[in-house]
Amino acid sequence: MIFFITLGDSNIKIQHKKFQQMSNYHIKHLEEYFQIHRKSVRNPEGFWEEVAEEHFIWRKRWDKVLSWDFKKPEVKWFEGAKLNITENCIDRHLRIRGDKTAILFEPNDPSEEAEHISYQQLYERVNQFANVLKDQGINKGDRVCIYLPMIPELAISTLACARIGAIHSVVFAGFSATALATRINDSDCKMVIASDGSYRGSKTIDLKGIVDDALEECPGVETVLVAKRINSDIKMKEGRDKWLQPLLEEALTECEPEIMDAEDPLFILYTSGSTGMPKGMVHTTAGYMVYTAYTFKNVFQYRENDVYWCTADIGWITGHSYIVYGPLANGATTVMFEGVPNYPDWGRFWEVVAKHKVTQFYTAPTAIRALAKENLECVEKHDLSSLKVLGSVGEPINEEAWHWYNDNVGKKKSPIVDTWWQTETGGIMISPIPYLTPTKPTYATFPLPGIQLSLMDENGKEIKDNQVDGRLCIKFPWPSMARTIWGNHKRYKDTYFSTYENQYFTGDGALRDEVGYYRITGRVDDVIIVSGHNLGTAPIEDAINEHQAVAESAIVGFPHDIKGNALYGYVILKESGESRNHDNLRKEINQIITEHIGPIAKLDKIQFTSGLPKTRSGKIMRRILRKIACSETDNLGDTSTLLNPEVVQEIMDNVL
Ligand code: WTA
Repeated sequence: MIFFITLGDSNIKIQHKKFQQMSNYHIKHLEEYFQIHRKSVRNPEGFWEEVAEEHFIWRKRWDKVLSWDFKKPEVKWFEGAKLNITENCIDRHLRIRGDKTAILFEPNDPSEEAEHISYQQLYERVNQFANVLKDQGINKGDRVCIYLPMIPELAISTLACARIGAIHSVVFAGFSATALATRINDSDCKMVIASDGSYRGSKTIDLKGIVDDALEECPGVETVLVAKRINSDIKMKEGRDKWLQPLLEEALTECEPEIMDAEDPLFILYTSGSTGMPKGMVHTTAGYMVYTAYTFKNVFQYRENDVYWCTADIGWITGHSYIVYGPLANGATTVMFEGVPNYPDWGRFWEVVAKHKVTQFYTAPTAIRALAKENLECVEKHDLSSLKVLGSVGEPINEEAWHWYNDNVGKKKSPIVDTWWQTETGGIMISPIPYLTPTKPTYATFPLPGIQLSLMDENGKEIKDNQVDGRLCIKFPWPSMARTIWGNHKRYKDTYFSTYENQYFTGDGALRDEVGYYRITGRVDDVIIVSGHNLGTAPIEDAINEHQAVAESAIVGFPHDIKGNALYGYVILKESGESRNHDNLRKEINQIITEHIGPIAKLDKIQFTSGLPKTRSGKIMRRILRKIACSETDNLGDTSTLLNPEVVQEIMDNVL
């Protein structure tokens, strides 16, 4: 397949001049990128049609490649086409790759053997699972919640849903019972697929207990299928809970794929937003398949015998697109890792790379920063010579981490693809192409072919120059964009299409350098990225405010060496709470957050205060709170217009 990117015709010459200091090799290849990008901008329909024609099995060809209207907003790709994504991810490969490993499962405990699941075995296991779903009353269009650790059943159950046209909603197994219940109810899931428990390093987690607690609040769930993983003695609720294994054993290994319309929903995946309710992003079938397959192939330069490993969890979009669908659509071998980077020691990632001769390794900056803190010996004692491409995703990668990754893992030979994208975009939007785009630390570089970016200024105007920063938007549809928020199209419109006219607004700030490379500077809304996880401030504040001693709270982010950002909470206590021991209160507040959201949202610092700075209309001035938490108090701006300016000094005096 071919690749690459966008800068209008007129820009190309200028671009070339800027690149003059580069080698002829790079210029030649970049030219290729520009050509392809230019082509994709001139004729997006033709461009994507060519990609779609190239590889996939279509049960019926599309009538129209694209129709769109960002005002409504409504976007349709490959309208009229019929297909099943699992036929493209599995069946299509059986003839030539039946014995090839599709999923390489590396367990939490290194002494447990890795499992190689071939394409043929995957075919059989997905079909069996699909037949079980059908036997249990799941039909096309039904929603199924999957709450599983990183074991093969997680990938298999998502594919089994797709096989029969059920819509999967995978919830990351680190979320709490309350968070799980909210997600199950929001999309009316009929079934939950869970396990008896999970391993996480040296710990075991009682996942089924969490499901049981969640289901107290979920009257719509009829069935819970339970996979065995840790063999713990759990309670099974009569009539509702069923062990998966015996059902699978009885199921046939053939299951005709349900033929889906291009725009039928494939899955829902929740992401945090600026209100307490998570947003169920809806992804549809054909466009998502085409785009994840295309970007996987090009961004990771996957070749037939490569072993690709993405360390994300399938509970996040990175796992959906680049552990399951993108790699499998390309007939790749994709590693699924159950464990954590520091178990049994900090060399685990590199041990796994050496053991399976991993060629592409894709992880998050927070993991890189944690690994970089450890003794270099952890890396150096493992043979990493199989690596060809290194990836980064989830948050801005700082320069130090970039160099550590480049020097010690890539040995300055493997290009780093710093990939920028979102749950909403479905696939990678900005990234270097290995061996073509010269990399630059902290820059995600150019948009991929088919992606038309824009930077907007504060007044809602597009900024055309280089060497500027602005708000990152996308001005033309791409195949894998989320089509709506489940059950709330208005919120979809308000969140993404109302800030700037005819633009999809990403919520991120970015700067564009002198050659047109993009660097993502971070969120410009009320979402904070902690260890690569998006956390909305509103749901955390809602949770804290449930504490009986708390009157009000505000959360901001502050820089953290490993997590990127950590959370700082300002809390006003009710009179009843004022006499209480503050350390105990801090523990209780974090406990409430753990119960409502999960341990990932715990606060690093909690400062009790008598007030929060507010505007005259009563809005909390988070900008001021953020600056105080980040020790940037030299330039707080004008505080005199606040309703309660005196509180700023009090907060500064007591900052933690
Ligand atoms: C951030 C993850 C800088 C960004 C795929 C985005 C990044 C949010 C990068 C989406 C990157 C992701 N550089 N920032 N390479 N990749 N982000 O939905 O703020 O979990 O909007 O999707 O992560 O996070 P999400």
